[in-house]
Amino acid sequence: MLKVGIIGTGDIANLNVLGYLRSQDAELVAVSDTDIKTAGQKLERWGLRTTKIYLDYKEMVNREDLDIVEILTPHHLHAPMAEYCAKAGISGISVQKPMANTITACESMIRVCKDEGVTLKLYENFRFYPVYLKAKELLDNEAIGEPLNFRINTLGTGGPSMHVGLKSEKWRINVDTCGGGTWIYDDGIHKFSMALWLMGEERVEKVYSWIDYFTTFMDSPSIIFWKYPNKNDSDPPKFGSMQFTLAPNLYYPSNYYNCDEFIEISGTKGMMWINQCTSGGNLISKTPQYPPIVVYRDGEVNIYGEDLPRDWRYSFINSTEHFIEAIKKGTDPIYTGEQGKNLCIFAKMPFISQQRKESVNWNDISSENEKNQSCIVETPKDLDESGMIKYYKRSRKDLKEGIKKGLENKTFTYQYEH
Ligand SMILES: NC(=O)c1ccc[n+]([C@@H]2O[C@H](COP(=O)([O-])OP(=O)(O)OC[C@H]3O[C@@H](n4cnc5c(N)ncnc54)[C@H](O)[C@@H]3O)[C@@H](O)[C@H]2O)c1
Repeated sequence: MLKVGIIGTGDIANLNVLGYLRSQDAELVAVSDTDIKTAGQKLERWGLRTTKIYLDYKEMVNREDLDIVEILTPHHLHAPMAEYCAKAGISGISVQKPMANTITACESMIRVCKDEGVTLKLYENFRFYPVYLKAKELLDNEAIGEPLNFRINTLGTGGPSMHVGLKSEKWRINVDTCGGGTWIYDDGIHKFSMALWLMGEERVEKVYSWIDYFTTFMDSPSIIFWKYPNKNDSDPPKFGSMQFTLAPNLYYPSNYYNCDEFIEISGTKGMMWINQCTSGGNLISKTPQYPPIVVYRDGEVNIYGEDLPRDWRYSFINSTEHFIEAIKKGTDPIYTGEQGKNLCIFAKMPFISQQRKESVNWNDISSENEKNQSCIVETPKDLDESGMIKYYKRSRKDLKEGIKKGLENKTFTYQYEH
């Protein structure tokens, strides 16, 4: 039985733990959090009251004979924590996305884990969402021919959704501890991951972006677009784009965060639309007008994935189960440290493009350029702070109006526990 320890028992720990709770091969033996109340509440919720809590993660690592550690803390802590665990001989280290706040930190983690012979996983769960796995299978079978253009819109909605406390927001809105902005760098890692994986690419050539800070602390609404490298001169050019849209007046129940994702991929022979991810399984998913995957090709429209689990939690369960298998078999995890670093490079490019007001090349983002300060994400200047207050006021007002009109799901309930 593999012994597992969790460092950081905040919001996402509720989802990362699911794969371990149902595993026959791994067991959660200890958790660590500087906030003992949070850790205690989580263990209570998971039905693991007797599991040990450590305030100091180093003590947990030194005392428990762990095989796996899950690092679920703010981004600037990922590297020092992963490196400490690797040097202490823990054989499997899983780090929640993004891998780190800087490229320098990513490289340091990769180096230390390699030197210590440790398996390092960058935990990006969209890569394991059942509907996305099906879409990838269809794309690999040339359902739309050769993919040419990728488009993803992330919609930040009015909920109701899972509560995210101020404590979790605080380190995210600080560019130094986050590494970028809350939407593009933090949440965006998932979307950059899909932009590469679904399109069968390892990296992009160049990125251009436009980022607004309407709500002061959120890097949204924003539009980012890029070009994939051409493998052969005769290949048709391939492009992609990503949008973050704020719609605080949109009533949209979610079991998790107050957002959802919509993907459109155009190919040489057809088109694919992938509807929903984070809020998958909500009331929209249950309507026949909104199937998970729609494919148009040769004059025909087909739908796929209606038999698949659409609740987002399965992306976490699958990702954790995959990691346990990788540790048991000694195989590479999805993602490796190098792939995790690539996602951080991609996610930093839009900020540097915005700062320079020009397109940015992949090689512009590197640890060398962090040293010479030419690719440091800066805190945005001269922001109108009333934007944030207006945003929340609008969101609350709209929900009240919705409730008056008889809308259901007005408060968040975690359906998994029912
Ligand atoms: N995969 C996803 O969809 C997803 C969603 C949300 C967050 N995340 C990622 O998960 C990580 C954690 O995010 P979160 O939303 O749970 O944050 P959070 O702020 O809710 O939780 C972080 C926890 O770490 C604890 N912590 C801080 N310093 C610590 C230390 N030195 N030792 C031990 N514990 C410490 C805090 O007390 C807190 O409980 C981040 O990397 C974030 O980007 C991923």
